[in-house]
Amino acid sequence: MAVSFPDAILNELLRKAFEARKNAYAPYSRFPVGAAILTKNGTIHTGCNIENSSFGLTICAERVALNKAVSEGERHFNAIAVIAGSKEPVSPCGACRQALFEFQPELVVVMSNLQFEKKIIKLSDLLPEAFYNRTNKD
Ligand code: THU
Repeated sequence: MAVSFPDAILNELLRKAFEARKNAYAPYSRFPVGAAILTKNGTIHTGCNIENSSFGLTICAERVALNKAVSEGERHFNAIAVIAGSKEPVSPCGACRQALFEFQPELVVVMSNLQFEKKIIKLSDLLPEAFYNRTNKD
């Protein structure tokens, strides 16, 4: 489904994600990724991927941005931008989709590459039929 969101805000979010990518710690994959998540009150929290020699401990840029924001008391999000040096705009992994879905199924996801090509899709379209156990939510 088509997503409408002000272009200027998405470009700003993408620019912040691009800056955050510079801090990526990715010596194993050599695939640095940056992300920036926008809260409903307009603040932006950034993240980059952080790898580990015990590979399973690696965390993606999107979850770093999300977890930073939640740990600062944020719960309500509008959009996330993610950028990497892939040929096509980079698409969030399944784990990140599920983590983001917890807070905002209708999140606007802006994917990009270093040519700043944009692909914009709603999270609920990226993760249809997601698991969500409302009975456990306060
Ligand atoms: N990665 C992300 O940070 N976000 C994505 O959307 C895709 C994958 C990271 C994990 C790992 O550090 C590297 O990219 C290669 O998979």
